[in-house]
Amino acid sequence: MSLIHGGDLYSASKRFGRPINDWLDLSTGINVHSYPIPAIAPPAWQRLPYLEPQLLQAAQHYYGTDHVLLTAGSQAVIERLPEILHQQGNRLCALLPDIGYQEHHRAWGLQTTVMTYSGLIDASAQISDLLNQPNVGHLVLINPNNPTGSTYGPDQIRTWAQQLAKKQGYVVVDEAFIDCQPQHSVMTQDMPDNVLVLRSFGKFFGLAGIRLGAMIAPPRLRQQMTNIMGPWCVNGPAQAIATEAFQNLAWQQSMVQQLQLEQGQQRALWQDFLLRIGTRLQADTPLFRSFLLPATQAEDLHTLGAKAGILVRPVPITETTTLVRVGNIDLTNQPHLDRCRAWQISIG
Ligand SMILES: Cc1ncc(COP(=O)(O)O)c(C=O)c1O
Repeated sequence: MSLIHGGDLYSASKRFGRPINDWLDLSTGINVHSYPIPAIAPPAWQRLPYLEPQLLQAAQHYYGTDHVLLTAGSQAVIERLPEILHQQGNRLCALLPDIGYQEHHRAWGLQTTVMTYSGLIDASAQISDLLNQPNVGHLVLINPNNPTGSTYGPDQIRTWAQQLAKKQGYVVVDEAFIDCQPQHSVMTQDMPDNVLVLRSFGKFFGLAGIRLGAMIAPPRLRQQMTNIMGPWCVNGPAQAIATEAFQNLAWQQSMVQQLQLEQGQQRALWQDFLLRIGTRLQADTPLFRSFLLPATQAEDLHTLGAKAGILVRPVPITETTTLVRVGNIDLTNQPHLDRCRAWQISIG
């Protein structure tokens, strides 16, 4: 079964009859200010892509640890982790957010029973309770949660990891959207060995198409993942671009600053309009924001937006409620700003 994700312009074009190049795509949380792609030397295309030591070093420096495995997107790790953790640790159920990047759910569901906690609210108490159940063996957190924005702090995560260590369980922390708020990362603190972190290159660097991600984990798990993935899993051009991007501290620092500064403006672009039609702001992050509203209204909003050439991402929560996630717009692009305003005015 394939899941629905943001950024699917082919499906949107087919459904709404609009050319692929005529969308203002706000349906993902990918940074609109992409890292400028450098010239790529022919060997990057021609040779088998053994991992460049320079890339690994730059990634280790960026993530602040030696325990990095680079992969073709964090999605590639998400698909394989349940099998590996079941082999390495216990074969018990996994506890996941009910709302959140659903590929975790799908991957664990192929391996074991999945139990859920609320992804919409702070579910700390619920998680602590459920981890005490003898049938629960692993915990998945998405920090910040996409699309709900909820987060859990390092101290809390350490306590859960210690709780699970007693049954050889693991805590998986998906930090795909954390790069603009590095101070919230579990990577800032010492964590027990049963905490694994997933990072995504595509979101912050705005280059989801090159397919690069990282798993930060102890050597045994990295080796196990490497064995399953086989050789050459990160292609040569992706390696060339990422080496430069990971080394470019000036770009990273100014981009974090820019996205943090723009966060209020990006929210303000939608907040008045959406609150006026009765929605509630649920998530507010530097790369996306989400609004909660009745399902029928969300469907109308999605359809009317698409007719105006603006694609947002509705995420059903219950039969009657939906979250609408809205990504960033290039605030210097006047035609895009005009398109948003025209749509808002047409809705009233
Ligand atoms: C929370 C989360 N984790 C992981 C991913 C996978 O990202 P990638 O495979 O591009 O690293 C996504 C993609 O949207 C996501 O939203």
